[in-house]
Amino acid sequence: MSTLAIEGMQWGDEGKGKITDYYAAKADIVVRSQGGNNAGHSIQHNGVRYALRLLPSGILQKNVVNILADGTVINPASLLEEIDNIHKKGVEEIHLLISTRATVLMPYHIALDKAREEALGDAKIGTTKNGIGPAYEDRSARLSLRFGDLLDKEYLRKRLHAILPLKNKEIVAYGGEAFEEETLYKELCEEADKLAPMITDTTSYLQKAYKEGKKILFEGAQGAMLCLTYGTFPYVTSSSPLATAIPSNTGLPLSAVNEVLGIMKAYTTRVGEGPFPSEIFGEEAQTIRDKGHEYGTVTHRPRRIGWLDIPQLKYVISISGVKHIAIMLLDVLSVVDEIKILTKYTIDGKEIDYMPASLWELEKVKGEFLTLPSWKEDISSVRKYEDLPANCRNYISTIEKLLGVSIDLISVSPEAEATIIRNHNIF
Ligand code: IMP
Repeated sequence: MSTLAIEGMQWGDEGKGKITDYYAAKADIVVRSQGGNNAGHSIQHNGVRYALRLLPSGILQKNVVNILADGTVINPASLLEEIDNIHKKGVEEIHLLISTRATVLMPYHIALDKAREEALGDAKIGTTKNGIGPAYEDRSARLSLRFGDLLDKEYLRKRLHAILPLKNKEIVAYGGEAFEEETLYKELCEEADKLAPMITDTTSYLQKAYKEGKKILFEGAQGAMLCLTYGTFPYVTSSSPLATAIPSNTGLPLSAVNEVLGIMKAYTTRVGEGPFPSEIFGEEAQTIRDKGHEYGTVTHRPRRIGWLDIPQLKYVISISGVKHIAIMLLDVLSVVDEIKILTKYTIDGKEIDYMPASLWELEKVKGEFLTLPSWKEDISSVRKYEDLPANCRNYISTIEKLLGVSIDLISVSPEAEATIIRNHNIF
């Protein structure tokens, strides 16, 4: 297959980075199609650790073209800092293209994100405070600057002059300080000069590449349950991490998304607020949190921990067409005595067969659980499915039966080689 979409099936942080890196090495092009520097993952390359937020995972591969596509929101200062960090670590050449249609995330977006979260008090979303929501709002309101605008300084000045007074009004209403137009303009011009060689019409670039049969990897950011429409609204991000959103975020036709690989942890985690029907607390949660290093890469917040949630995963499969699954961090479950799987949602004792759209309803959901024995052995050096302990294989096959999708990759430790690959024909 010439294209592959990688999608997080939970609330982000599923370990997409490792699988993305594996496929990035086989790709001609790696595309980030949505989100911004709210995402974060670190990758190990030739013994060096790199923290990536915006840059696609193919950035360390010599022969891969990396694209920040139409649906992304990009903070130019963060992007330049990330590029700089990579150069400082000795990577001289990178191949990066930025869409002329991508949204410029401005300092006032960050100020608004912070001010709003504060103003919401207990009702806060728990955002990464990187300005993602306000940047997407401006895009929908047709008030944003786009990367193509950075290529014409006069046009840029005119647009900023029209937009900034509206933004400043909002910031001042929150008790913040207005941004000065000239300062912002100068900063933007400096950033534009550095980024200009990379800004291009990635829409037509990708269309041509697709027609030529180039291998294109669509790297997912965040997770399906953080989707603006289908996630646990309002505790979601402001874009759609679903594979189904890729065409409208890249300019490629629907048929261009050949395969969808869903990534899920062997359990569930989430950061920030919101209902979480399979959540576990106390010592058991802490044991898993510590073994799985479940602290945010961006915010360092401890992640909330829960068991696998089958209705949630089935819902994601149904809305995004996941055809294959990679299960991550399976080794972490060696630390518990028994494993639970949430198999059914009930409200007032009655099973429901849909994902509640509203929080008031999701808050009423109770889970019915299946309990399986754990395996206790260290599985981190296992490389063949048959060599996994019987209880571990039982856990995998139980999930496959419950979800009706095959688990084609199994990650048993963070290292790249610690992956059991059961299907070599995905990409
Ligand atoms: P925002 O995307 O910064 O607006 O944050 C909205 C919600 O999405 C918050 O709960 C964040 O913690 C969560 N979020 C955003 N990006 C990621 C990610 O890459 N991984 C996990 N959670 C994320």
